[in-house]
Amino acid sequence: MTVVRVETPPRGYDVLIGPVEAGIERVAGLGGRAVMVSEPRVFALHGDRLATALGTAPILLPEGEAAKDWATLHRLMEQLAERNVGRDTPIVALGGGAVGDVAGLAAALFKRGCPIVHIPTTLLSQADSAIGGKTAIDAFGEKNLIGAFHQPALVIVDPALLDTLDPRQLRSGYAEVVKYGLIDDPAFFAWCEAEGRGVLAGHCDLRNHAIETAIRAKARIVAADVEDRNGQRALLNLGHSFGHAIESEAGIGALLHGEAVALGMALAFRLSAELGHCPATDAARVVSHLGTMGLPTQLGEVGLSGRGGRLIEWMARDKKNASGQLVLVLAHGVGRAFVDRSVDRARLAAYLDR
Ligand SMILES: NC(=O)c1ccc[n+]([C@@H]2O[C@H](COP(=O)([O-])OP(=O)(O)OC[C@H]3O[C@@H](n4cnc5c(N)ncnc54)[C@H](O)[C@@H]3O)[C@@H](O)[C@H]2O)c1
Ligand SMILES: [Zn+2]
Repeated sequence: MTVVRVETPPRGYDVLIGPVEAGIERVAGLGGRAVMVSEPRVFALHGDRLATALGTAPILLPEGEAAKDWATLHRLMEQLAERNVGRDTPIVALGGGAVGDVAGLAAALFKRGCPIVHIPTTLLSQADSAIGGKTAIDAFGEKNLIGAFHQPALVIVDPALLDTLDPRQLRSGYAEVVKYGLIDDPAFFAWCEAEGRGVLAGHCDLRNHAIETAIRAKARIVAADVEDRNGQRALLNLGHSFGHAIESEAGIGALLHGEAVALGMALAFRLSAELGHCPATDAARVVSHLGTMGLPTQLGEVGLSGRGGRLIEWMARDKKNASGQLVLVLAHGVGRAFVDRSVDRARLAAYLDR
């Protein structure tokens, strides 16, 4: 079992990487008898043995993004109340980022905060969303509008749970893995170029290395900026200002999150090259690698050509913007991302239209 510590004062937490059965032995030490929150597909594949080991019947949420709404949050809290869950009862979220986000928000709110344990089951959630304490539901037509920071008490990452994940979901999660190379680790990006196919093919050593590297990077960046205030965590948004706009414009659900992020990262690197921040050869490498991995890199590929103005409108609504100015993550090269607040909207719209 590999242990990665995430330092989030006043309390830190461990991310255990290894077989889930070994990890859940630690849950008993956290407090009262655990409650498990999952969703039907994941529970049918992986839940029984874990629920038995924890001695709990699961609370099942709807599958996927549909779980991230008021009604589901309300029903979940109602069930926590019916079960008389106490403040020290660990709530164990077994599933992808959607389950983790809703269960994490419920845990933040219920009795002003119960411990949340994440057992992420998608590549995206193992490499990214289960670490860092962001929780949210979607509301009033906006993704992740209502949420809270609630750091987990423990995260258990078992890469073998990904064996049942479909290839499109795997590719989507891979976009978030590559992101860490592009932010500040050029050697990891070069490793991805060489071994990315093996990661997606499920080669255990390669998959474990990719996940562990992503977790260590996220842990480091989160520790430097726990509540996303000093600009460090903003770098994790590489590809996301474009990506969220692309997801919204395509219609929520049409593209997977990681697919939109991949396209967003390709756009960020091409724009960086066009503005003279980044060598064109670096932008070409990024676009080529993402394309090779089966991820979209052109707006035309996802039916969004000529929609620059609309995309800018979505981008202008991003929570990350400060006083009306678009905040973008651009790059001086592979592994050299930076936050930029100077790109003019008209220029950006023209760029996206091209
Ligand atoms: N909190 C954060 O920091 C953060 C970061 C990134 C993304 N997110 C959120 O995460 C959500 C997306 O998460 P996701 O990509 O994990 O998707 P998801 O939770 O919707 O799961 C995707 C699909 O995979 C299935 N699935 C999950 N695990 C499986 C397994 N092991 N085998 C087979 N099928 C499995 C699910 O049933 C679902 O159909 C979004 O709502 C996004 O906003 C949150
Ligand atoms: Zn993301």
